[in-house]
Amino acid sequence: MAAGNLSPDDLTIDNLTPHVIKLSSNIENERLKFVFAKLIQYSHDFVRDTKLTTAEWEAAWQYLTEVGQFCTPDRQEMILLSDVLGISALVDAINNPTAPRATESSVLGPFHNDAHEFEIGQSIASKGAIGEPMLIRGTVSDTNGTPIAGTSVDVWETNGNGFYDMQDPEKDEPDCRGIFHTDEQGRFALVGVRAVDYPIPYDGPVGVLLRLLNRSNIRPAHVHFVLQHPECGRLTTALYSHDSKNVALDPVFGVKKSLIKQFAWSEDTALAKKFGIDMLERVGSSGKKTVGFWILEHDFVLMRK
Ligand code: BEZ
Ligand code: FE
Repeated sequence: MAAGNLSPDDLTIDNLTPHVIKLSSNIENERLKFVFAKLIQYSHDFVRDTKLTTAEWEAAWQYLTEVGQFCTPDRQEMILLSDVLGISALVDAINNPTAPRATESSVLGPFHNDAHEFEIGQSIASKGAIGEPMLIRGTVSDTNGTPIAGTSVDVWETNGNGFYDMQDPEKDEPDCRGIFHTDEQGRFALVGVRAVDYPIPYDGPVGVLLRLLNRSNIRPAHVHFVLQHPECGRLTTALYSHDSKNVALDPVFGVKKSLIKQFAWSEDTALAKKFGIDMLERVGSSGKKTVGFWILEHDFVLMRK
C-alpha cells in the first residue's frame, strides 16, 4: 500500500518512516525536501537500530532543553555541543575542501568576536595582559605563490591563563584579538601572547557530557585566524603548538597535521626591538637561563575564487 494511503491505525515500526517523509515532502524547496527526508530517515533508523527506550528518549529531550536554556549571547552551548560531537569539524571538512598547497581550515569555535583594526606590527595584547610575548608573523599568497596584498587577517587567542576576553566579565574592550591587513608583499606581523592549552567551557551540559564519555576538555594551545580577500574564499583556521600534549585529544577535533607549528623561542634582540617586545627571562630545556620571546611564523596559502 502506498504510504500516502495509510490511515493512522495502519502505522507500524516498519512503515511509519515513509509515511512521515511523504507528509513532509509537500514543499517546493528541493534542498529542504531532501535534507528533511534524510533527517527523518536517519533519525528513525537510529531509534530502530538502538531500540531506544522511552526513558532514554526523555533523558535526551531533557538534556537538549538544558543545552538550549544554557545559551546566552556570550555562551553558545549549542555550538559547543556540535563541536564536541565532531559535527562542526565534519561540516567544515565537507564545505572547505583544500586544494593542494592551500592552507587547511579548522573550527571557528564560539569565541570569535568584533575586534579593532591594527597596523602591521602592533600588539593585540593590552598593556597588563597576562602571558609571555609572542611575535606572530607570516605571509598570505595564492596557490601559485603570488602574494595577496590587502588580505584581512583576523586573529584571536586566549591570554596566558587560557581565557578569552569574552570570558572575563571585567573586560569591556577586546583583548588578544585584532584585525590586520597584509602589505604589498602579502606580509603581516603582530605581537600577542604565547597561546596556552585551555579548557573549553565545562560548567554546563556539554561538560556533563564530556565527563560521562570520559573525554578531555582541554584544547591544545592555538591561535585562531580568519583570512579574507575579495578574490579568495574566506579561510577560517588556527595554528596549533607542536609541543602541546593535547593535540591528539582535542575535544573539538580542530587539529590537522599541517596546522601544527613550532612556537619557537627567539633570543633575537634586534627583532624584539623592532616590534617593541619586552624580552623575558626563562630557564630553557638545557637548564640555562635565556632572555627572549616566542615566535610563531606561518605562510598562509589561499585559493582564488
Ligand atoms: C576555540 O578554539 O576557541 C573553541 C572551539 C570550539 C569549542 C570551544 C572553544
Ligand atoms: Fe580557541
